[in-house]
Amino acid sequence: MNSRNENIPVHGMGREEEVEVRIKTLRDEIEQHNYNYYVLSTPTISDREFDERMKELQALEEAYPRYADPYSPTQRVGSDLSKEFEQVEHAYPMLSLGNTYSEKEVSEFYDRTVRLLNEPFEIVAELKYDGVSISLIYERGMLVRAVTRGDGTRGDDVTANIRTIRSVPLKLRGGGYPERFEIRGEVLLPWAEFDRLNREREEQEEPLFANPRNAASGTLKQQNPAVVASRKLDAYFYYLLGESLPEQGHYENLEIARSWGFKIPDVIRKCPALQDVFDYIAYWDGERKRLPVATDGIVLKVNALRQQQQLGFTAKSPRWAISYKFQAERAVTRLNSVSFQVGRTGAVTPVANLEPVLLSGTTVKRASLHNADIIEELGLCIGDDVYVEKGGEIIPKIVGVDVDARSMMMGDQVRFITHCPECGAPLVRRENEAAHYCPNEAGCPPQIKGKIEHFVTRRAMNIGIGPETIEDLYNAGYVKNIADLYTLKAPDLLRLERWAEKSAQNLMASLEKSKETPFERVLYGLGIRYVGETVAKRLAQAFRDIDGLKGAAFEALTGVDEIGERIAQSVLDYFADERNLAIVGRLKTYGLQMAVSGEMPPSSDKLKGLSFVISGTFTKYSRDEYKAMIERNGGKNSSSISKNTDYILAGANMGPAKQEKAVQLGVRMIDEDAFLNMLTL
Ligand code: IVH
Repeated sequence: MNSRNENIPVHGMGREEEVEVRIKTLRDEIEQHNYNYYVLSTPTISDREFDERMKELQALEEAYPRYADPYSPTQRVGSDLSKEFEQVEHAYPMLSLGNTYSEKEVSEFYDRTVRLLNEPFEIVAELKYDGVSISLIYERGMLVRAVTRGDGTRGDDVTANIRTIRSVPLKLRGGGYPERFEIRGEVLLPWAEFDRLNREREEQEEPLFANPRNAASGTLKQQNPAVVASRKLDAYFYYLLGESLPEQGHYENLEIARSWGFKIPDVIRKCPALQDVFDYIAYWDGERKRLPVATDGIVLKVNALRQQQQLGFTAKSPRWAISYKFQAERAVTRLNSVSFQVGRTGAVTPVANLEPVLLSGTTVKRASLHNADIIEELGLCIGDDVYVEKGGEIIPKIVGVDVDARSMMMGDQVRFITHCPECGAPLVRRENEAAHYCPNEAGCPPQIKGKIEHFVTRRAMNIGIGPETIEDLYNAGYVKNIADLYTLKAPDLLRLERWAEKSAQNLMASLEKSKETPFERVLYGLGIRYVGETVAKRLAQAFRDIDGLKGAAFEALTGVDEIGERIAQSVLDYFADERNLAIVGRLKTYGLQMAVSGEMPPSSDKLKGLSFVISGTFTKYSRDEYKAMIERNGGKNSSSISKNTDYILAGANMGPAKQEKAVQLGVRMIDEDAFLNMLTL
């Protein structure tokens, strides 16, 4: 018996029944742990124990596909690429809220409510979360659809992406929920995850997300749910809608929704008097900075549903609710100059140099200007008084110019440069991209040094030198590209300042050791634009060695999971450049790892003329590796099943729709062992 299945109870049941019971137990247990961890933030088992249960469940579901269930916790991580989002009509329009910015305006809302209702009422105060609004529809306790706000009347069906959010219940807990209802809330990217994502993007010199809201929105629009799953979104809920809600009050309904498993913020409060509302605002204006997610205000709602109904809606927003926006922290200061920095990939970033000013406790001297369009939009002139804000952003930004403060002696208008400030090459701007680039990769000093700095980092080759040493080696003419590092000799180093016998020997040893670095990290270290750690791993797995990757056509590259057209083109461009080929060739002769370790069936034309669709998850090789095997053996990969499909390589968790289609069209389904047999026979 498989060791993973040892926990199956044995007494009194047939094998089949035992498996079914065990699968159900594991599913319930795993969802309970998801709930403890993601909703209650109080895990009761270790990650390892959790993973063990998940693995056991995956193994059982794989061995017994008839118990497949799209609501199983194993199905949260989508792996199939979905096409365009479908547009869906909202049963209840998704309206916005009227905004207020002062206590006076809040009082006016309160007084108006007093007048209109002419009877006692309660206000519920909540935080206003700054993310992407979402509406979830549940039928008989199951999540059936998740729709974005869209234009308020119709939105995108993003169910596959929302299912990846662990705190969103796929099936409700407890009971007493209406047959059908909607719950609305906010999809949020927690600050910690936002910072991680931006660090990753900075490393790749990709444009940073300005704030967690943009990052969450960009993530939800991803066509690949597996990417969404990797970003660790969260969702908080604040509004229950439906025909037959359990309670008469908004607050009470949310309390019950919490018992069904939703993450309902526990900071919502009933405010019997206007002063309680002001106290809530004053408290959260400061305290919100400690929260794990972004907030931009307070929402006030009349509690009783009957009174909400009585107050009704205007065309755009409810009369029974209003938002109070926190003041973004802002300062005025002088723009002294704008500098343009050139990064490793040649991306040129404009930076505003400011007269130092105190803003939310830190002195701000510089602000990001992002790109040429933003400079143009602001119409900046040197010497202008500018407004600097630190709202949801980490990097302060210039949000406007005090045009009235301009004197007759106005400074020059800021224009984006046309030539590289470092090497003088004319800058280029690719179609549909906001950034300008210096194209002189091989001759522009910050690009050369930046590439070497990237190559030696811990996550790439882990060679023990830093930017200063690289600067010295470059200036001395010893190192002009990453391959030159491996021709360094200890006596050369001793001729430089600050080098002693010991440090020179250390560097030699570190270079020697780096030759053992696995291929995927070497590939990451090459610094191909858009090839970050994850992409490098995917490419290494799919193409196995540098020659496989070098020879890969555009379609083969885009056929790899998570590799889009932009990355594919960048890889092609890299290998089309003779200078890069020379560097890669030299690295290979110096003994760097240019292939993944581990065996794979050799290439052949055994699959010539055969068309495959891969579906599900596998244990022996990854999906990408199977895709590569199919290509290497003359077969073709396709993403959808048709009458032209010869085989479906079916792994665990293959979706029920695909299974049905395969049966309908009579396409043969084979598992991974059968597939590997086809290659070895
Ligand atoms: S209630 C009909 N409550 O703010 C009222 N909205 O400008 C429905 N938001 O689109 C919204 N936190 O995305 C409500 N506690 C909260 C909220 C909240 C954030 C967002 C929501 C909505 C927008 C309204």
